[in-house]
Amino acid sequence: MIITTISELRNYLHNQRLQGKTVGLVPTMGYLHDGHLSLIRAARKENNVVVVSDFVNPTQFGPNEDFATYPRDIERDAKLATDAGADVIFHPSVEEMYPTDSSTIVEVEGNITKVLCGASRPTHFKGVTTVVSMLFNIVQPDKAYFGQKDAQQAAVLMKMINDLHMNIELITCPIVRESDGLAMSSRNTYLSVEERKQAVVLNQALKAGKDAFEKGEKEASKLVKIISNKINEMPLAEIDYVNILDFPSLAPVSKIEKEVLAAVAVKFGKTRLIDNVIFG
Ligand code: PAJ
Repeated sequence: MIITTISELRNYLHNQRLQGKTVGLVPTMGYLHDGHLSLIRAARKENNVVVVSDFVNPTQFGPNEDFATYPRDIERDAKLATDAGADVIFHPSVEEMYPTDSSTIVEVEGNITKVLCGASRPTHFKGVTTVVSMLFNIVQPDKAYFGQKDAQQAAVLMKMINDLHMNIELITCPIVRESDGLAMSSRNTYLSVEERKQAVVLNQALKAGKDAFEKGEKEASKLVKIISNKINEMPLAEIDYVNILDFPSLAPVSKIEKEVLAAVAVKFGKTRLIDNVIFG
């Protein structure tokens, strides 16, 4: 069932809660792939009612980013989400979420939103935290599901939930990959045949970094070099960042002594891809 208005969704959920049902939320921007579906399946197992939001959120895109061209197909999404166990697909218009007089933002300040993707996308995370706060307020889920694919997003949202004392359990699900290792992403559809071939290097480079760590290299800067060199073997790859940070604080690390996030963002033409691995 597709619901497009906040009031209709609230009515539906109110009735479900009167029956004592728990609610799981899977926020997405649509154009669903197996990565999204893995979150929906996880939510299906752990909740009585599963809401999938399908909303391309304008406020998390920068002025020169792909908001207008971001792929959209609500009919296809609704079928895929329902087959994976969703009860409701919440698909509001931009006006429904952001009426013209809307002027409130929710922003997590500090290093956590300035590093990695925050450096090249300075307004991105406040768009994410604002829309996810709205979705949390509208749906009031018991549990909300996010992918490790966007590890920084999960870390930022975890901080928001803690800082604002939100009574929501955030569940992070593993990265789902294509058979050659490329992390699934709605943006993979932008890649040319040659770019798509070379894009496997993100995962390969992160694996090379993790292997070197497991063989004894504990210096973050040396591992960053190993990962960067591997990516640079691909002529079409243009590195945005390669970094190793403490997880989930995203504080800098030099010598790796506990869990870290190794994260990369690489551009192929106009398409920017991200990937990461946690080790240590
Ligand atoms: P979107 O990019 O559509 O991703 C929705 C959710 O699916 C995110 O939690 C993301 O981490 C997860 N996901 C994407 N690709 C994945 C993969 N290959 N494996 C596992 N999980 C994957 O992230 C957003 O939308 C938006 O920022 C949103 C949170 C919806 C706010 O607008």
